[in-house]
Amino acid sequence: MPKRTWLRSGFVWAGLILVLLIGWFAYSDRNPDLPTADFNSTVIADIKAGKVDHLVTTEGSSTVEVHYKDSARPTTQSRLPPNTNVVEVLTGAGLEANAVPVEVKAASHVGAILSALVFILPSLLIVGLLIFMMRQSQGSNSQAMSFGKSKARLFSSNRPTVTFSDVAGVDEAKEELAEVVEFLKYPDKFASLGARIPRGVLLVGPPGTGKTLLSRAVAGEAGVPFFSISGSEFVEMFVGVGASRVRDLFEQAKRNAPCIIFIDEIDAVGRQRGAGLGGSHDEREQTLNQILVEMDGFDSSTNVIVIAATNRPDVLDPALLRPGRFDRQVILDRPDIQGRRQILGVHMRGKPIEENVSVENLARQTSGFSGADLENLVNEAAILAARRNKKTVGRNEITEAIDRVIAGPQRKSRVISERERLMTAYHEAGHALVARMLPHADPVRKVSIVARGMAGGYTRTVPDEDRIFKTKAQFEDDIAVFMAGQVAEQMVFEEISTGASNDIERATAIARRMVTEFGMSELGPLAYGKKDELVFLGRDINEQRNYSDPVAFQIDGEVHKIIDRAHERATTVIREHFDRLDAIAQLLIREETIDDDQLEALFDVPRPKPELVGPPYGRPSARAQEVASARQQAPAPPAAQERAEPWPKDRPDGDPPAGRGLWPQPAG
Ligand SMILES: Nc1ncnc2c1ncn2[C@@H]1O[C@H](COP(=O)(O)OP(=O)(O)OP(=O)(O)O)[C@@H](O)[C@H]1O
Ligand SMILES: [Mg+2]
Repeated sequence: MPKRTWLRSGFVWAGLILVLLIGWFAYSDRNPDLPTADFNSTVIADIKAGKVDHLVTTEGSSTVEVHYKDSARPTTQSRLPPNTNVVEVLTGAGLEANAVPVEVKAASHVGAILSALVFILPSLLIVGLLIFMMRQSQGSNSQAMSFGKSKARLFSSNRPTVTFSDVAGVDEAKEELAEVVEFLKYPDKFASLGARIPRGVLLVGPPGTGKTLLSRAVAGEAGVPFFSISGSEFVEMFVGVGASRVRDLFEQAKRNAPCIIFIDEIDAVGRQRGAGLGGSHDEREQTLNQILVEMDGFDSSTNVIVIAATNRPDVLDPALLRPGRFDRQVILDRPDIQGRRQILGVHMRGKPIEENVSVENLARQTSGFSGADLENLVNEAAILAARRNKKTVGRNEITEAIDRVIAGPQRKSRVISERERLMTAYHEAGHALVARMLPHADPVRKVSIVARGMAGGYTRTVPDEDRIFKTKAQFEDDIAVFMAGQVAEQMVFEEISTGASNDIERATAIARRMVTEFGMSELGPLAYGKKDELVFLGRDINEQRNYSDPVAFQIDGEVHKIIDRAHERATTVIREHFDRLDAIAQLLIREETIDDDQLEALFDVPRPKPELVGPPYGRPSARAQEVASARQQAPAPPAAQERAEPWPKDRPDGDPPAGRGLWPQPAG
């Protein structure tokens, strides 16, 4: 509020200037050019001696000018004692009141006004202060009056800050939204075919995948008014405000139709009704009801399209999601490799990136990153380059930035004893070795024993390709890789450390899900346990048991079996390749961080390829048989052989198809 501070400092200055003026005038009736003399002694004596011609005084002032008869003697001035006048002083000194002529000048107007001001000013100040305070309280009062007004911000597309070209890798979503804009611009085109214009589009996706960004791009490109509001802005302390804000928002929108309303984080108001602790939440439900009514009221002719974004579509009220309200749901998922390449392209645009940085390679290394992560990555790299006083961003900065984003900044200053360093090196070497030797584990990209964040060291594995599903074999190999750190510690030091606690936790979680969710154990394809999502926390903090105690016992047994088997396999691999474990650990101690090429250089056998499973009842193609025979001649790595389990005997046709697992991967 610049205006108000200006006002306030204006008051202060005015007050200061006034005080100075008063002070100046109070002393200004004394003529500084004249010499001064003491009235009681000198002046009275002079009068008695008849030397004084006349006195001049000003009404209401205590200063007296003394003019002498002797024109050679200069006029002096003197001050009367307080609370007296000339006559009193003269008579008090035993003189006649008219012993000397006294000329009385009329008081100057300024003096009178000033002395009046001295009294008026404080009262003026008090009154001003009162008015100021009243205005203030009125301000909040008028805010209370506009409570029910929506706080939506109106964007016009005159100067778009974000356009569709800033959003990469989500082409389908862009198409959908571009179509929505089309609806608004040319409604007749669709109406002539009897098509109803969609009412709402719901953008759904994990955090940081570009929902808000995309809608901002729509605002930039739409060419129609765009109202933006966040779900939480409807909710206020007072009941009924949310609903009235919704009404106001839609009224505004209808006045500006055709237009777009964007509600970000709609789950703040759109949660399922009648749920939550204590039954329901009146205010939120009223707001939601109002949204439902506005979106699908009697009036269906207006061209207002609602775009909403959320990352919790599961908690939204079903009535909100039905056709007629949010007809379309646009899913924004974490980008695939191509998407990542494009997003990196967008964010590297205009940054001085060195030639040797391969976007391709970077995209491959950042599997699972969201758009926001990628943006952060590029930014971190630029910051690092600036910190190193470089003019360009090189590969080193990018690599370091990836590690920072994943595991946190390096903690070089942490003091680590030689023994702990050695233990960490073998621990990580164990992970790396087993990940390298098991066919279904993700390839190792980087191994490091530099402490980062909470971790003492880390082994980063990234899949070759993005995948949507995971198979049982992949899970089993993953768990074996998790186990490998502790196995290596045990084998080398005959001692285990707490360093594996996170590995164990994650391995156990995977194993339990394999049994209870994915049907990947002998208990069969049953879902055990019903997850109750707690509405307010949004997390499954309590799992409802829908199975008996004996089954719980069995589940624990199965989980145990999976872990034991993985432990066993990790042990076998490490025992067989113990020399490689040593080699990796030694290299780690020397280099601290090694990448995939350095790791690969330590091995002379190629990395085992995952076995690919073909269609079960078909005959393998000629090409597959070719590959199969080639594979049979080449010695398979022991772990791969071990994994080639027999085809299940109780198949309906009984006959295991030849060449299991040797199908070429289907194109696309
Ligand atoms: N597809 C993309 N293309 C380019 N940049 C992206 C993309 N997705 C995300 N980003 C970057 O990530 C940032 C955050 O994205 P955004 O705010 O849109 O996430 P969101 O999906 O709304 O997340 P939330 O659900 O947490 O609100 C954007 O400002 C942008 O820099
Ligand atoms: Mg957002």
